[in-house]
Amino acid sequence: MKGSLSFFLISLVAILLGTCRGGELRKHFYEETCPEAEDIVQKIIWENVALNSTLPAKFLRMHFHDCFVRGCDASVLIDSTASNSAEKDSIPNQTVGGFDVIEEVKTELEKKCPGIVSCADIVALATRDSVSFQFEKPLWEVLTGRRDGRISLVSEANSQIPPPSFNFSQLKQSFASKGLTVHDLVVLSGGHTIGVGHCNFFSRRLYNFTGKGDADPSLDSTYAAFLRTKCRSLADNTTIVEMDPGSGMDFDNNYYKILRQNKGMFQSDAALLTDNGASNIVDELLDPAKFFTEFAQSMERLGAVGVLTGTSGEIRKKCNVVTIVIAGKATELISQHVMMVKESGKFSKTAEIADCLTSSQIRGRSHSLTLRRMWTWLPKIWIMTKRYNVPVATGVAGRGIDIPDVAHVINYDMPGNIEMHTHLIGRTGRAGKLV
Ligand code: HEM
Repeated sequence: MKGSLSFFLISLVAILLGTCRGGELRKHFYEETCPEAEDIVQKIIWENVALNSTLPAKFLRMHFHDCFVRGCDASVLIDSTASNSAEKDSIPNQTVGGFDVIEEVKTELEKKCPGIVSCADIVALATRDSVSFQFEKPLWEVLTGRRDGRISLVSEANSQIPPPSFNFSQLKQSFASKGLTVHDLVVLSGGHTIGVGHCNFFSRRLYNFTGKGDADPSLDSTYAAFLRTKCRSLADNTTIVEMDPGSGMDFDNNYYKILRQNKGMFQSDAALLTDNGASNIVDELLDPAKFFTEFAQSMERLGAVGVLTGTSGEIRKKCNVVTIVIAGKATELISQHVMMVKESGKFSKTAEIADCLTSSQIRGRSHSLTLRRMWTWLPKIWIMTKRYNVPVATGVAGRGIDIPDVAHVINYDMPGNIEMHTHLIGRTGRAGKLV
């Protein structure tokens, strides 16, 4: 009995982990709903890369940055608004580009099959197709079925995308927090075989490594002298330098060769040689065939980090804006705003909402509670003042309840479809008040 219970629990954990990792991603997810989707993406991406050879590096970095914040949910594509600073405005994303090309693909797909193909899948496919352009065939398989997130916070991008100053244990921890191994870390760092770095991300290694006007001793001194001819001062934040000298446009395993010569551009590159296990993996990847096989596998794992699938999230209409669901005829009357807030331990659990929702609320009477319980999502101006009458309702309680004199409805979780939206905003919203 004990044995079967343990087996049940282990299976349950395995199923749950499986869900977090890969969800329901599968090959050719759009086969039935939009059979041309993958061809359309490839065509537009290849046309653009033919005109602009810097795009593969841009998409590869964009995909990595997307997947490291809230999973691969295209949150990196969302624009900031008056009430929200989005991931795009974070320090690491200032130099990410290619957003216009993603939008071009999305526009075309919306014409062919409206509301079907997610922006998150477009980023994953665009990355694969752009990097594969030089080989004229796909370098790795992209499973599809991702959905788009509705939250994008600058603070999360700043804290979750690893900076180039990270040492090995910080990198290992960062990747582990996304379910990725040291092996993935070393293999995916091989992405630095293409593209450029801005001087300000590595010039401390050239001019002031320990604060005494010195250079990083782990950087090859001839290469450091060369880099100083490019980056003339610590203040230079505009000059760009190829990360894989002489081979920065070719997707190959040359990164590991230069790494072994102590010519990795960032401290985070050099850090891979400071751990025996990681350093052994660097040696293995000096074999090109091994690199291509391993890179393909690690990209699939990266592309599955924290994905939203099934009915989670949404399929955005435009990749740079979260869709506000249109609520029927009264739409023109309703003023709708989206406010993104970081989930707080204090108010993240449905149980806590249900706790506030006393039976009196279900009977339709408004319920008084202190605002401190709700501080995570009410506008700051309301915090810590006095007691207000604030009715709190779960989705179930929200159905059909008419509470007079309610001026605002705040949906803590954005509903994914019009029906649910209409239920949740209730008569308040449909009467043209603020949602
Ligand atoms: C391991 C931790 C990583 C760190 C600390 C890191 C850091 C950086 C930094 C600082 C830049 C230069 C950005 C600029 O100057 O504009 C860069 C560029 C780049 N990174 Fe990473 N990166 C890491 C991992 C990855 C991974 C996993 C990938 C993809 C698989 C990747 C792909 C790229 C590419 C392609 C570029 C060039 C972008 C361009 O030319 O526009 N990086 N990275």
